[in-house]
Amino acid sequence: MFSLFKKPETGAPRPSTAAVGSGAPASRAMTPTAVKPVAAGKPSIAVAPQRNPAEVAALDKERKRKERMSELKVELHKRLLENLNLAALESASEVNLKSEIAAIVAEALEEMSVVLNKEDRTVLNQDLFDEVMGLGPLEPLLKDETVNDILVNGPKRIFIERNGKLQLTDITFKDERHLLRIIDKIVSAVGRRVDESNPYCDARLADGSRFNCMVPPVAVDGSLVSIRKFKKDKLAIPDLVKFGAFTEEMAAYLQAAVSCRLNIIVSGGTGSGKTTTLNALSSFIDNHERVLTIEDTAELQLQQVHVGRMESRPANVEGKGAVTQRDCLRNALRMRPDRIIVGETRGEEVIDMLQAMNTGHDGSMTTIHANSARDGISRLENMVAMAGIDMPLKAVRSQIAAAVNLIVQASRLQDGSRRMVSITEITGMEGEVISMQEIFRYERLGIEPGGKIIGRFNATGVRSHYSDRFRQWGYDLPASIYEPIV
Ligand SMILES: Nc1ncnc2c1ncn2[C@@H]1O[C@H](COP(=O)(O)OP(=O)(O)OP(=O)(O)O)[C@@H](O)[C@H]1O
Ligand SMILES: [Mg+2]
Repeated sequence: MFSLFKKPETGAPRPSTAAVGSGAPASRAMTPTAVKPVAAGKPSIAVAPQRNPAEVAALDKERKRKERMSELKVELHKRLLENLNLAALESASEVNLKSEIAAIVAEALEEMSVVLNKEDRTVLNQDLFDEVMGLGPLEPLLKDETVNDILVNGPKRIFIERNGKLQLTDITFKDERHLLRIIDKIVSAVGRRVDESNPYCDARLADGSRFNCMVPPVAVDGSLVSIRKFKKDKLAIPDLVKFGAFTEEMAAYLQAAVSCRLNIIVSGGTGSGKTTTLNALSSFIDNHERVLTIEDTAELQLQQVHVGRMESRPANVEGKGAVTQRDCLRNALRMRPDRIIVGETRGEEVIDMLQAMNTGHDGSMTTIHANSARDGISRLENMVAMAGIDMPLKAVRSQIAAAVNLIVQASRLQDGSRRMVSITEITGMEGEVISMQEIFRYERLGIEPGGKIIGRFNATGVRSHYSDRFRQWGYDLPASIYEPIV
């Protein structure tokens, strides 16, 4: 099925994209796609239903048990810190440490005359291990592969995102101090500090996850934490096709676009799958090319051999030592890159990015926060203006029109599915306006009672502006991929 994604023989015309070309519209992948929703349509936080007295009693018992466990944990944690040889923690193996914790806990429980069943004892031991070695209550969520995002709104409310849907968990911190202690553990590991005068911070967890926090008094109801979990196995093009993020035809088109070195912007809202798409697109880059990546938090995982990764750095406590994305980008231009990939363009680096795209580093890619291709262009214009570049709007626009070839729009639909809702080419300028043409789009056809969105991908009927280039480079896409289904 993925013969589509095979690179063509150099020089020779591309072997016919049989899977695409021979398929009659009916057999094409652009058939209505059903989304796999999870609890689709339901509000994220359900309104508490009426409960009978037995249920209320059971809930009350469970709440009391949790409170008791939580109090025990605090007491035991204190004792652990007194009794554990902290200096030996680093070198101790997990098994040794766990058995040492279990022994100390058993002794302490006996002293306190507390009897726990085996299950509670196991949970308690694991929680304490997480508390000492890891990030406390966050630890099980970090280990859970199905969780994408962890969002903490104060000590008592931890939300997670699974399959595109936000849900409230029953995991809590003991209190704000507990939460602050975990935050402190994270930020001090990267040499930062958060306090009243320095109330927010970006960091990367040991496993590569992206972390941001904001503490009171700026965070009004308790500290706010957002974690974007790092996925070791990033979604590749075939996965995205399988999940219905786009079709095989769109993938074939994108392969041609990346291979023919079009400059591509992936645009989308927060958490819409921009970085995932960028990462997947990068797989089409030839293995011989030298690719430099620049990010605020290194998330991209390129598979090529010749990759140089850069990560910007905020200023230290004294306000010194900042290295911005723009600094990295300027330096990158002196490092003989074939392509430059900027994880997200959000500020003054836009100038250098556009210049790089215009001056021989074609095939470069980035993402921006925007809700449509047109909106993306406005964002770029605004960023140029905010960078303090005093250029007439028309000049800015022609810079953009010359630099950017393609805008891929990612979106998280309301049922939680992530889709590439539009692929739009920039074709030049018409007077003062940047002209563009949409090639593929996601058409929403309706919604199922459960909230699942029904829709399909379709071509717009417009042939690519870059068709000749594709052909010259050996990517002879069949005309049928541009034909819409009516
Ligand atoms: N098509 C998809 N299907 C299922 N999950 C996806 C898809 N695309 C992305 N994801 C998952 O969604 C989460 C968010 O994706 P990603 O980090 O790419 O979003 P983003 O738009 O870059 O977010 P941000 O704006 O925070 O940078 C990730 O955990 C990713 O694995
Ligand atoms: Mg991202």
